[in-house]
Order: sequence, then C-alpha cells, then structure tokens
Amino acid sequence: MAAIKGTMGDGKCSNGVHHQGMTDVQLFERQFKELVSELTEDDITDPVLTDALNRLREVLIYNAPGGKRNRGLSVVCSLRELVPPAKLSHDDVQRAVLVGWCIELLQAFFLVADDIMDASQTRRGQPCWYKREGIGMDAINDAFLLEGAIYRILRRHCRGQPYYVHLLELFTETSFQTELGQTLDLMTAPPNKVDLNRFSVERYKAIVKYKTAFYSFYLPVAAAMYMAGIENEVEHNNAKHILLEMGEFFQIQDDYLDCYGDPAVTGKIGTDIQDNKCSWLVVTALGIMTPEQRKELEACYGHSDAVSVERVKALYDTLEMPMQYHEYEEQSYQRLLKLIECHAQNLPHAVFLNFAKKIYKRNK
Ligand code: IPE
Ligand code: MN
Ligand code: MN
Repeated sequence: MAAIKGTMGDGKCSNGVHHQGMTDVQLFERQFKELVSELTEDDITDPVLTDALNRLREVLIYNAPGGKRNRGLSVVCSLRELVPPAKLSHDDVQRAVLVGWCIELLQAFFLVADDIMDASQTRRGQPCWYKREGIGMDAINDAFLLEGAIYRILRRHCRGQPYYVHLLELFTETSFQTELGQTLDLMTAPPNKVDLNRFSVERYKAIVKYKTAFYSFYLPVAAAMYMAGIENEVEHNNAKHILLEMGEFFQIQDDYLDCYGDPAVTGKIGTDIQDNKCSWLVVTALGIMTPEQRKELEACYGHSDAVSVERVKALYDTLEMPMQYHEYEEQSYQRLLKLIECHAQNLPHAVFLNFAKKIYKRNK
C-alpha cells in the first residue's frame, strides 16, 4: 500500500481522539509503564538477574520519559498520515507507539553517554544520570542497557511483521551514523586545545547531520514509512532530503539555546563554550568578527572558568548573535517550506509540516 498524496489518513495526528477516546499522546504515555514491566518482568525471568533487572527499571524510569517526545510521537503521527484510518488496525497503532518508544530509548542511550562526555550537570530539569549519588561511570553500562532494550522491544512486538528487518537495519544504521557524528563533534572540540581554525561551516554541517539529523528526523519518519509498506528508495531519499534539513535547523536551535535559552525551560545548563564545541554560534560569529575580536575569542573560548565564559558571551552579544539567529530561523523556515513543495511529491506534506510546526519557534 504505497502512499499517494490525497488519499492519506485523516491527518488528525496526536491531537485527535482515536482509540477508546484516547489521543496518541495518551496512548504513548500509557504504553511506558507496560514497556517497563515487559522489559524487567516478562522478557527475561532468570531469578539470578533480579538485581540487574531492578537496575534496568530504575535506569528506564529516570532516563526515558521527561523529554518532549517529538521523536517518539512522530512515528504514530506519520503513520496516520501515510495509511488511511480504515486500513490501520489498533495493533498497527500499538506497534507504532512501541517503535516510537524505541526511538525515545535510543535518544536516552545517546544522552546518558553524551552528558558524561560533555560534562553536563542537568538534563530535562534533573541531574544528569551519571551525576546521581552512587551512579558515576556505571552510567556507561546503563547506556548500553538502554540500547539493548530497543532490540528486545522490536523483537517482541515486530518480529512477525514484514518490515521487521527494515526496522532493524534502520535502527542499527542510524545508531552508527549518530556515533560517527558524536565522534566528529568530540574530535572537533578537544579539551584544552583551542584552535579556531578547526571550526568551519562545512565541519559544522557534517557534525549536526550525523549526530542529530538522522536519528531525530529521518529515523522516526522512515520507521513509519516502512511500517506503512513504503520501501522505495526514491521515496526514502526524498523524505531524507527534507528531514536532514530540518535536523540541521533543529541542532542550530539547540546551539542557540545552549547559550541563550532559559535553563528553567530547556531543563539543561549549556556547556558548549566551556567544552570548546563547534557550535553554530561560534561558527557564525567567526564569519562576522574583526581580527581583534578573533584574538579575544582565542583567549577565552573553551575555558571552564566563569570569567572566560562571560567574555565569550559578551562577544556574542556585541555581535548581536540573537538577531543573527532570528534572521537565520526565518530564512530557514521559508527554505524548508519550499523543500517540502519540491521533494514531497508522493508523500503527504503533513508528515513534514507536523514536524516543522513542532520545532520552529521552540524555546525548549
Ligand atoms: C547531542 O548533541 C547529540 C546526541 C545525543 C547524539 P548535544 O551535546 O549538542 O546535545 P545537548 O545539548 O547535550 O542536548
Ligand atoms: Mn551534550
Ligand atoms: Mn554532545
């Protein structure tokens, strides 16, 4: 059942009431408890593992919920745009919700590790998992547990489906792309080795495409496409083209919010300046600053003391980075709408527009 524009689902997405008077958001929330008990009680039952399974429960509850859930929800959301309601069974929806949770688990896996590597303090309004009393570097293994949980869920719920192998390849491929992106991100930001020549627009684009765009944007829509029976490579490439562009914009926002966001809203305290990161702010600022300003940046970027950080922020303010960002945001939105016009020929535009609406002008 290949999707043809105009014959799609009702497009009600997450806001409309569906099964038993529940919205997709409610279905999604309700699924989590069940998922935890499945993973920790029903999947593996060897009594010698009780302590480990209890730890897994704790790790899941602390790290998987609490985000915006855009990634997870967009699987079921996209599926509803791709398949007419009459052809979508309750079980299909249920599986889309579970695959959505798998994306949230993948995200949790990456974030637990990312927070250690970036020396972050808070995430989603609470201490980073590795910062919790008694956790520390054991969080590395907890990240592996979160990754492992993905494949247990997929196996339990999708093994008999025609798209099972597609989903497995999609999750493993996307994980590897993200890991390569994290590699570039880390290699471009060596601690105590500030070299502004390392930062360029090209390097920036490569980092964010791989570390963020594939898993946050292409993965959820591609998963829904496979679940809807769309395997065609041309269709996938069309979708990828639009979604990677959206992902780039999303990470630029993340970089902007790292410095200019309100931690009470974003739930995290920025570390990009201290961590010597190749952030959109530093790359853009480098393109417009004077040689004197570059010397100043050279002297204070990538240092963890508060005075140095304030000097970088003062420089960003002088260069009117918030204005630069808002200009970029407007341009990028217009470009995205055009891209949807030309590249979403056979796919319902709502798949992309729903996503775009959620991310533009966000503040968390
Ligand atoms: C994280 O990028 C990307 C992945 C987790 C794969 P960042 O390091 O920029 O994200 P935040 O700001 O810590 O959320
Ligand atoms: Mn980080
Ligand atoms: Mn990072």
